[in-house]
Amino acid sequence: KPVVLSGCQPSGQLSIGNYLGALRQWVQMQQTHDCKFMLVDLHAITVRQQPEQLREATLDGLALYLACGLDPEKSTLFVQSQVPEHAQLAWVLNCYTQMGELNRMTQFKDKSQRHANNINAGLFTYPALMAADILLYRADEVPVGDDQKQHLELSRNVAIRFNNLYGDVFKVPEPMIPKVGARIMSLQDPEKKMSKSDDNVNNFIGLLEDPKKVTKKIKRAVTDSEEPPRVAFDPAAKPGVSNLLSILSAATGEAISDIEPRYADKMYGHLKGDVAEAVVALLEPIQEKYHAIRNDRAYLDEVMRKGADKAREDAAQTLRAVYDAVGFVPYP
Ligand code: AQP
Repeated sequence: KPVVLSGCQPSGQLSIGNYLGALRQWVQMQQTHDCKFMLVDLHAITVRQQPEQLREATLDGLALYLACGLDPEKSTLFVQSQVPEHAQLAWVLNCYTQMGELNRMTQFKDKSQRHANNINAGLFTYPALMAADILLYRADEVPVGDDQKQHLELSRNVAIRFNNLYGDVFKVPEPMIPKVGARIMSLQDPEKKMSKSDDNVNNFIGLLEDPKKVTKKIKRAVTDSEEPPRVAFDPAAKPGVSNLLSILSAATGEAISDIEPRYADKMYGHLKGDVAEAVVALLEPIQEKYHAIRNDRAYLDEVMRKGADKAREDAAQTLRAVYDAVGFVPYP
Protein backbone atom coordinates (compact mmCIF):
# COMPACT_ATOMS: atom_id res chain seq x y z
CA LYS A 1 0.00 0.00 0.00
CA PRO A 2 1.29 3.50 -0.76
CA VAL A 3 2.31 5.44 2.33
CA VAL A 4 0.38 8.62 3.01
CA LEU A 5 1.30 11.14 5.67
CA SER A 6 -0.50 14.22 6.92
CA GLY A 7 -1.33 16.12 10.05
CA CYS A 8 -3.06 19.03 11.71
CA GLN A 9 -1.48 21.60 13.97
CA PRO A 10 -2.99 21.64 17.47
CA SER A 11 -2.89 25.42 17.29
CA GLY A 12 -6.55 25.72 18.24
CA GLN A 13 -9.73 23.72 17.89
CA LEU A 14 -9.92 21.79 14.61
CA SER A 15 -12.31 23.56 12.26
CA ILE A 16 -14.82 22.47 9.65
CA GLY A 17 -12.09 23.53 7.19
CA ASN A 18 -9.77 20.89 8.60
CA TYR A 19 -12.57 18.33 8.48
CA LEU A 20 -14.01 19.04 5.03
CA GLY A 21 -10.62 19.82 3.50
CA ALA A 22 -8.58 17.04 5.06
CA LEU A 23 -9.81 14.71 7.81
CA ARG A 24 -12.80 13.43 5.90
CA GLN A 25 -10.56 12.39 3.00
CA TRP A 26 -8.13 10.77 5.43
CA VAL A 27 -10.88 8.53 6.74
CA GLN A 28 -11.42 7.21 3.19
CA MET A 29 -7.71 6.78 2.54
CA GLN A 30 -7.47 4.29 5.36
CA GLN A 31 -8.93 1.68 3.02
CA THR A 32 -6.33 2.11 0.32
CA HIS A 33 -3.20 3.48 1.98
CA ASP A 34 -0.75 2.86 4.77
CA CYS A 35 -1.69 6.02 6.67
CA LYS A 36 0.32 8.07 9.17
CA PHE A 37 -1.67 10.91 10.68
CA MET A 38 -0.07 13.19 13.23
CA LEU A 39 -0.85 16.11 15.44
CA VAL A 40 2.06 18.36 14.65
CA ASP A 41 2.78 20.08 17.94
CA LEU A 42 6.40 20.79 16.98
CA HIS A 43 5.08 22.84 14.09
CA ALA A 44 2.49 24.53 16.29
CA ILE A 45 5.09 26.17 18.54
CA THR A 46 6.50 28.17 15.63
CA VAL A 47 3.69 30.50 16.74
CA ARG A 48 3.46 31.22 20.47
CA GLN A 49 1.11 28.80 22.25
CA GLN A 50 -0.12 28.71 25.84
CA PRO A 51 1.30 25.44 27.25
CA GLU A 52 -1.93 24.31 28.87
CA GLN A 53 -3.92 25.15 25.75
CA LEU A 54 -1.47 23.29 23.52
CA ARG A 55 -1.72 20.20 25.70
CA GLU A 56 -5.52 20.33 25.66
CA ALA A 57 -5.72 21.05 21.93
CA THR A 58 -3.46 18.07 21.22
CA LEU A 59 -5.61 15.67 23.24
CA ASP A 60 -8.80 17.23 21.82
CA GLY A 61 -7.35 16.85 18.34
CA LEU A 62 -6.55 13.20 18.88
CA ALA A 63 -10.03 12.53 20.26
CA LEU A 64 -11.46 14.34 17.22
CA TYR A 65 -9.36 12.24 14.84
CA LEU A 66 -10.90 9.17 16.46
CA ALA A 67 -14.42 10.61 16.57
CA CYS A 68 -14.22 11.47 12.86
CA GLY A 69 -13.40 7.86 12.03
CA LEU A 70 -9.62 7.55 12.01
CA ASP A 71 -8.93 4.07 13.28
CA PRO A 72 -5.80 3.27 15.30
CA GLU A 73 -6.04 -0.36 14.17
CA LYS A 74 -5.76 0.68 10.52
CA SER A 75 -3.61 3.81 10.68
CA THR A 76 -0.68 5.10 12.68
CA LEU A 77 -2.04 8.01 14.74
CA PHE A 78 0.54 9.88 16.74
CA VAL A 79 1.71 13.09 18.34
CA GLN A 80 4.74 14.48 16.55
CA SER A 81 6.77 15.43 19.64
CA GLN A 82 6.44 11.86 20.95
CA VAL A 83 8.51 10.65 18.00
CA PRO A 84 11.86 12.38 18.61
CA GLU A 85 13.18 11.40 15.18
CA HIS A 86 11.18 14.30 13.68
CA ALA A 87 13.22 16.89 15.54
CA GLN A 88 16.43 14.92 15.03
CA LEU A 89 16.05 14.63 11.26
CA ALA A 90 14.87 18.22 11.00
CA TRP A 91 18.18 19.36 12.48
CA VAL A 92 20.15 17.43 9.90
CA LEU A 93 17.95 18.73 7.08
CA ASN A 94 18.39 22.29 8.33
CA CYS A 95 22.04 21.83 7.49
CA TYR A 96 21.16 20.83 3.94
CA THR A 97 18.61 23.56 3.29
CA GLN A 98 19.74 26.94 2.01
CA MET A 99 18.66 30.27 3.51
CA GLY A 100 17.83 31.41 -0.03
CA GLU A 101 15.37 28.56 -0.48
CA LEU A 102 13.64 29.28 2.81
CA ASN A 103 13.51 32.98 2.00
CA ARG A 104 11.30 32.24 -0.98
CA MET A 105 8.60 30.48 1.05
CA THR A 106 5.38 32.47 0.85
CA GLN A 107 3.97 30.97 4.06
CA PHE A 108 6.93 32.38 5.98
CA LYS A 109 6.31 35.78 4.46
CA ASP A 110 2.61 35.60 5.38
CA LYS A 111 3.13 34.27 8.88
CA SER A 112 5.92 36.68 9.70
CA GLN A 113 3.60 39.52 8.79
CA ARG A 114 0.84 38.11 10.96
CA HIS A 115 3.19 37.45 13.88
CA ALA A 116 5.57 40.36 13.49
CA ASN A 117 6.53 40.30 17.17
CA ASN A 118 7.76 36.70 17.04
CA ILE A 119 9.58 35.97 13.79
CA ASN A 120 11.57 33.08 15.21
CA ALA A 121 14.07 30.75 13.56
CA GLY A 122 11.62 27.83 13.85
CA LEU A 123 9.06 29.69 11.77
CA PHE A 124 11.75 30.22 9.15
CA THR A 125 12.92 26.59 9.09
CA TYR A 126 9.41 25.12 9.35
CA PRO A 127 9.77 23.57 5.86
CA ALA A 128 12.84 21.57 7.00
CA LEU A 129 10.74 20.03 9.78
CA MET A 130 7.99 19.30 7.29
CA ALA A 131 10.55 17.66 5.00
CA ALA A 132 11.64 15.51 7.96
CA ASP A 133 8.01 14.49 8.61
CA ILE A 134 7.65 13.29 5.04
CA LEU A 135 11.06 11.73 4.47
CA LEU A 136 11.12 9.74 7.72
CA TYR A 137 8.28 7.52 6.51
CA ARG A 138 9.24 7.30 2.84
CA ALA A 139 5.83 8.78 2.07
CA ASP A 140 4.40 8.33 -1.42
CA GLU A 141 1.60 10.82 -1.03
CA VAL A 142 1.24 13.96 0.99
CA PRO A 143 -2.29 15.29 0.76
CA VAL A 144 -1.81 18.98 1.36
CA GLY A 145 -3.61 22.08 0.23
CA ASP A 146 -2.30 24.49 -2.36
CA ASP A 147 -0.59 26.56 0.29
CA GLN A 148 1.77 23.66 1.09
CA LYS A 149 2.80 22.91 -2.49
CA GLN A 150 5.87 25.05 -2.17
CA HIS A 151 6.95 23.26 1.01
CA LEU A 152 6.51 19.89 -0.65
CA GLU A 153 8.68 21.01 -3.55
CA LEU A 154 11.34 22.08 -1.07
CA SER A 155 11.21 18.65 0.64
CA ARG A 156 11.79 17.10 -2.73
CA ASN A 157 14.75 19.33 -3.51
CA VAL A 158 16.38 18.66 -0.15
CA ALA A 159 15.90 14.90 -0.59
CA ILE A 160 17.43 14.98 -4.07
CA ARG A 161 20.36 17.08 -2.86
CA PHE A 162 21.01 14.70 0.01
CA ASN A 163 20.76 11.64 -2.23
CA ASN A 164 23.15 13.18 -4.73
CA LEU A 165 25.72 13.55 -1.97
CA TYR A 166 25.26 10.24 -0.18
CA GLY A 167 23.38 7.76 -2.35
CA ASP A 168 19.78 6.69 -2.17
CA VAL A 169 19.00 7.50 1.44
CA PHE A 170 15.62 9.16 0.91
CA LYS A 171 12.64 8.28 -1.16
CA VAL A 172 11.93 11.45 -3.12
CA PRO A 173 8.27 12.34 -2.58
CA GLU A 174 6.34 12.90 -5.79
CA PRO A 175 5.07 16.47 -6.12
CA MET A 176 1.55 15.18 -6.44
CA ILE A 177 -1.22 16.85 -4.56
CA PRO A 178 -3.91 14.18 -4.43
CA LYS A 179 -7.61 14.85 -4.13
CA VAL A 180 -7.96 17.53 -1.55
CA GLY A 181 -11.40 18.30 -0.26
CA ALA A 182 -13.19 21.58 -0.37
CA ARG A 183 -11.31 24.73 0.49
CA ILE A 184 -13.37 26.46 3.14
CA MET A 185 -12.98 30.21 3.48
CA SER A 186 -13.30 32.52 6.44
CA LEU A 187 -16.90 33.49 7.25
CA GLN A 188 -16.26 37.19 7.77
CA ASP A 189 -13.40 37.54 5.33
CA PRO A 190 -14.16 35.01 2.58
CA GLU A 191 -11.12 35.89 0.51
CA LYS A 192 -8.84 34.14 3.00
CA LYS A 193 -9.07 30.56 4.16
CA MET A 194 -10.80 29.53 7.36
CA SER A 195 -8.10 29.15 10.04
CA LYS A 196 -8.51 27.68 13.48
CA SER A 197 -6.12 30.22 14.97
CA ASP A 198 -7.94 33.25 13.56
CA ASP A 199 -8.19 36.09 16.08
CA ASN A 200 -11.80 36.68 15.12
CA VAL A 201 -13.80 33.70 16.39
CA ASN A 202 -16.61 34.56 13.99
CA ASN A 203 -14.35 33.59 11.09
CA PHE A 204 -14.29 29.88 11.80
CA ILE A 205 -16.46 27.04 13.03
CA GLY A 206 -14.81 24.60 15.41
CA LEU A 207 -15.77 20.94 15.26
CA LEU A 208 -16.80 21.07 18.91
CA GLU A 209 -18.95 24.16 18.77
CA ASP A 210 -22.42 24.25 20.14
CA PRO A 211 -25.13 24.04 17.41
CA LYS A 212 -26.64 27.39 18.45
CA LYS A 213 -23.28 29.11 18.10
CA VAL A 214 -22.67 27.42 14.75
CA THR A 215 -26.00 28.68 13.48
CA LYS A 216 -25.34 32.18 14.73
CA LYS A 217 -21.93 32.35 13.05
CA ILE A 218 -23.32 31.15 9.73
CA LYS A 219 -26.23 33.60 9.89
CA ARG A 220 -23.69 36.38 10.42
CA ALA A 221 -21.44 35.30 7.56
CA VAL A 222 -20.53 38.01 5.08
CA THR A 223 -22.33 37.83 1.73
CA ASP A 224 -22.57 40.77 -0.70
CA SER A 225 -24.91 43.58 -1.62
CA GLU A 226 -25.75 42.63 -5.18
CA GLU A 227 -29.26 43.83 -6.10
CA PRO A 228 -31.32 41.82 -6.47
CA PRO A 229 -29.51 39.24 -4.34
CA ARG A 230 -28.33 36.30 -6.42
CA VAL A 231 -27.23 32.93 -5.07
CA ALA A 232 -24.49 31.95 -7.51
CA PHE A 233 -21.13 30.26 -7.35
CA ASP A 234 -18.60 32.86 -8.43
CA PRO A 235 -15.69 32.95 -5.94
CA ALA A 236 -14.08 36.03 -7.52
CA ALA A 237 -17.16 38.26 -7.62
CA LYS A 238 -19.18 36.66 -4.81
CA PRO A 239 -16.72 35.08 -2.35
CA GLY A 240 -19.08 34.98 0.63
CA VAL A 241 -22.03 33.38 -1.15
CA SER A 242 -19.69 31.00 -2.98
CA ASN A 243 -18.16 29.90 0.29
CA LEU A 244 -21.60 29.16 1.73
CA LEU A 245 -22.38 27.09 -1.36
CA SER A 246 -19.07 25.23 -1.01
CA ILE A 247 -19.80 24.45 2.63
CA LEU A 248 -23.31 23.25 1.82
CA SER A 249 -22.04 21.11 -1.02
CA ALA A 250 -19.22 19.61 1.05
CA ALA A 251 -21.50 18.97 4.01
CA THR A 252 -24.31 17.32 2.03
CA GLY A 253 -22.35 15.74 -0.81
CA GLU A 254 -24.55 17.46 -3.38
CA ALA A 255 -22.91 19.15 -6.39
CA ILE A 256 -22.92 22.96 -6.31
CA SER A 257 -24.53 22.97 -9.76
CA ASP A 258 -27.46 21.01 -8.32
CA ILE A 259 -27.79 23.24 -5.27
CA GLU A 260 -27.59 26.61 -7.02
CA PRO A 261 -30.87 26.47 -9.01
CA ARG A 262 -32.90 25.77 -5.88
CA TYR A 263 -32.13 29.28 -4.64
CA ALA A 264 -33.02 31.03 -7.88
CA ASP A 265 -35.62 33.32 -6.31
CA LYS A 266 -34.53 33.08 -2.69
CA MET A 267 -32.76 35.43 -0.29
CA TYR A 268 -29.34 34.86 1.25
CA GLY A 269 -30.97 34.18 4.61
CA HIS A 270 -32.58 31.12 3.15
CA LEU A 271 -29.26 29.73 2.00
CA LYS A 272 -27.70 30.48 5.37
CA GLY A 273 -30.45 28.62 7.19
CA ASP A 274 -29.83 25.53 5.07
CA VAL A 275 -26.04 25.77 5.47
CA ALA A 276 -26.43 26.03 9.24
CA GLU A 277 -28.71 23.01 9.33
CA ALA A 278 -26.32 20.95 7.22
CA VAL A 279 -23.26 21.88 9.31
CA VAL A 280 -25.06 21.13 12.57
CA ALA A 281 -26.11 17.73 11.19
CA LEU A 282 -22.53 17.09 10.11
CA LEU A 283 -21.12 17.90 13.53
CA GLU A 284 -23.69 16.12 15.64
CA PRO A 285 -22.42 12.52 15.31
CA ILE A 286 -18.79 13.67 15.61
CA GLN A 287 -19.48 15.56 18.83
CA GLU A 288 -21.43 12.67 20.25
CA LYS A 289 -18.54 10.24 19.77
CA TYR A 290 -15.96 12.82 20.79
CA HIS A 291 -17.08 13.31 24.37
CA ALA A 292 -16.87 9.65 25.35
CA ILE A 293 -13.40 9.35 23.80
CA ARG A 294 -12.05 12.58 25.24
CA ASN A 295 -13.08 11.56 28.75
CA ASP A 296 -11.24 8.25 28.49
CA ARG A 297 -7.67 9.36 29.06
CA ALA A 298 -6.44 5.79 29.47
CA TYR A 299 -7.68 4.99 25.97
CA LEU A 300 -6.11 8.12 24.49
CA ASP A 301 -2.81 7.23 26.18
CA GLU A 302 -2.97 3.76 24.69
CA VAL A 303 -3.61 5.16 21.21
CA MET A 304 -0.72 7.64 21.57
CA ARG A 305 1.67 5.00 22.87
CA LYS A 306 0.81 2.51 20.17
CA GLY A 307 0.98 5.15 17.43
CA ALA A 308 4.29 6.61 18.57
CA ASP A 309 5.87 3.16 18.95
CA LYS A 310 4.73 2.13 15.49
CA ALA A 311 5.90 5.39 13.95
CA ARG A 312 9.28 5.11 15.63
CA GLU A 313 9.98 1.74 14.07
CA ASP A 314 10.04 3.33 10.61
CA ALA A 315 11.41 6.68 11.67
CA ALA A 316 14.38 5.23 13.55
CA GLN A 317 15.44 3.23 10.51
CA THR A 318 15.47 6.27 8.26
CA LEU A 319 17.25 8.38 10.84
CA ARG A 320 19.95 5.71 11.30
CA ALA A 321 20.56 5.65 7.56
CA VAL A 322 20.85 9.45 7.57
CA TYR A 323 23.23 9.47 10.54
CA ASP A 324 25.41 6.85 8.85
CA ALA A 325 25.38 8.83 5.63
CA VAL A 326 26.58 12.07 7.20
CA GLY A 327 29.23 10.32 9.30
CA PHE A 328 27.85 10.12 12.85
CA VAL A 329 29.41 7.32 14.91
CA PRO A 330 26.64 4.99 16.16
CA TYR A 331 26.03 4.65 19.88
CA PRO A 332 28.30 1.73 20.80
N1 AQP B 1 -10.01 26.30 5.46
C1 AQP B 1 -9.60 25.12 5.06
N2 AQP B 1 -10.19 24.51 4.02
C2 AQP B 1 -9.75 23.30 3.61
N3 AQP B 1 -8.74 22.63 4.18
C3 AQP B 1 -8.13 23.20 5.22
N4 AQP B 1 -7.09 22.79 6.01
C4 AQP B 1 -6.88 23.74 6.94
N5 AQP B 1 -7.73 24.76 6.80
C5 AQP B 1 -8.52 24.45 5.73
C6 AQP B 1 -6.38 21.54 5.86
O1 AQP B 1 -6.30 20.90 7.11
C7 AQP B 1 -5.06 20.21 7.23
C8 AQP B 1 -4.39 20.57 8.51
O2 AQP B 1 -4.01 21.92 8.51
P1 AQP B 1 -3.11 22.47 9.68
O3 AQP B 1 -3.86 22.49 10.92
O4 AQP B 1 -1.83 21.73 9.74
O5 AQP B 1 -2.62 23.84 9.24
P2 AQP B 1 -3.28 24.99 8.50
O6 AQP B 1 -3.52 24.61 7.08
O7 AQP B 1 -2.40 26.14 8.75
O8 AQP B 1 -4.67 25.13 9.24
P3 AQP B 1 -5.18 26.37 10.02
O9 AQP B 1 -6.48 26.01 10.60
O10 AQP B 1 -5.12 27.56 9.13
O11 AQP B 1 -4.12 26.47 11.16
P4 AQP B 1 -3.45 27.76 11.75
O12 AQP B 1 -4.59 28.71 11.99
O13 AQP B 1 -2.80 27.32 13.01
O14 AQP B 1 -2.46 28.25 10.76
C9 AQP B 1 -4.25 20.54 6.00
O15 AQP B 1 -4.34 19.46 5.09
C10 AQP B 1 -4.92 21.75 5.46
O16 AQP B 1 -4.78 21.87 4.06
